[in-house]
Amino acid sequence: MTLATGTPRDTRDAVLHRQHSRESAARTYARTFPIVPVRADGMTVEGADGRRYLDCLSGAGTLALGHNHPVVLDALRRTLDSGAPLHVLDLATAEKDDYTGALFENLPRDFAESAKVHFCGPAGTDAVEAALKLTQTATGRRGVLAFTGAYHGMTAGALAATGNVAVKQPLPTGGEVTRLPYPYAYRCPFGVGGERGAELSAAYVERLLDDPSGGVLPPAAMILEAVQGEGGVIPAPDGWLREMRRITAERGIPLIVDEVQTGAGRTGAMWAVEHSGIVPDVMVLSKAIGGSLPMAVVVYHEDYDGWQPGAHTGTFRGNTLAMAAGAATLRHIAAAGLAERAAVVGARMTERLTALRGELPVIGDVRGRGLMIGVELVDPSGTPDTCGAHPAAPELAARVRAGCLARGLIVELGGRHDAVLRLLPPLTITDEQAEAVLDRLADAIAEASAATTGGRP
Ligand SMILES: Cc1ncc(COP(=O)(O)O)c(C=O)c1O
Repeated sequence: MTLATGTPRDTRDAVLHRQHSRESAARTYARTFPIVPVRADGMTVEGADGRRYLDCLSGAGTLALGHNHPVVLDALRRTLDSGAPLHVLDLATAEKDDYTGALFENLPRDFAESAKVHFCGPAGTDAVEAALKLTQTATGRRGVLAFTGAYHGMTAGALAATGNVAVKQPLPTGGEVTRLPYPYAYRCPFGVGGERGAELSAAYVERLLDDPSGGVLPPAAMILEAVQGEGGVIPAPDGWLREMRRITAERGIPLIVDEVQTGAGRTGAMWAVEHSGIVPDVMVLSKAIGGSLPMAVVVYHEDYDGWQPGAHTGTFRGNTLAMAAGAATLRHIAAAGLAERAAVVGARMTERLTALRGELPVIGDVRGRGLMIGVELVDPSGTPDTCGAHPAAPELAARVRAGCLARGLIVELGGRHDAVLRLLPPLTITDEQAEAVLDRLADAIAEASAATTGGRP
């Protein structure tokens, strides 16, 4: 199809207009980012209207190396030129063999030693379904323990485990899911905050599971994110994660860690579980592990490998190009020390954002791990809760997002009230780019906050 003729802006508007008239009402990012990307390189995206943006969304955390990294492009070109079949169901290929090697080389050693991998349909949500089915098969139980604020995907089982109520409607609340309180220091489910909130969460989980009248049948699994992404960039304390590992291990409950967004260097370690040192029974991986192309796997202790042949099948489980791009990406992250780099740059960015709180009281909280950073915006004139957190400010956050876009910065929102600015830059972000992101962001927050308060600080 040819693009409309006229100015680059006309071209953009024509494409957006056709998208608006032909695509579903459920489209997401396209609603808030009226960009028609035509070129992308590293952290920069260029739209059909010639405007350039720094991309702090990175395909919702998928693009660990940014757009079109040479390592990825080389791997793709080599594979295309080799004549390898591009689609092979789940047959063995040299590319898949190599990918599996790259994955196992880079998984936490204690976990990889006795792990099996299952290639899933190429979306995180399918790997979550596989993990649930795997543990249900192995335990002969059905129920799942999942957390407030969790995001696990849009298919039935993953959606049931997800916390966000809006995306579940109008479906019946699915599955046998027991909802547990995730430690969220800023908006503490127990109204106490800090480490104490995490301790109470662990105590609650343990006592509930041991309460013969607690209403919870022995579950098939507990599923959690070490850092909640969509839930508002909430890192769980390492001690709390170790408690979850202890509590589940002592009760024979498989622990599934969903590393779809946190994996492949994002949090400052190759895998987020490495910060706490826990060894889960099952890891769910997707996004960055395909090196920009669709890929999802579930990796688990071999003891759980009791499911039947074909128990979790699917047509698109053998994407040769994704295997090549993913293997190159995982090896490059490790060889170039990009997880360590994410830790350093992320800490610097978080520090500067935290310092901004003094000047801009609409910044309620700054948190994150590595290059998964959240800035929660609040209404400082509203009544604070018992932990001192002011009410969330979703309209202000939407204005800041628009202000960022006007300044050439792509930033998405998340969190309970869509009031958390989420920064997910590529791990390859340079120091200069990090400064530019923070300058634009600070400017956009200051402008939107001045408009809200009539210029008062
Ligand atoms: C932690 C987590 N799990 C699962 C998913 C679902 O992945 P997908 O959108 O590829 O189905 C996501 C997507 O954002 C995620 O962040």
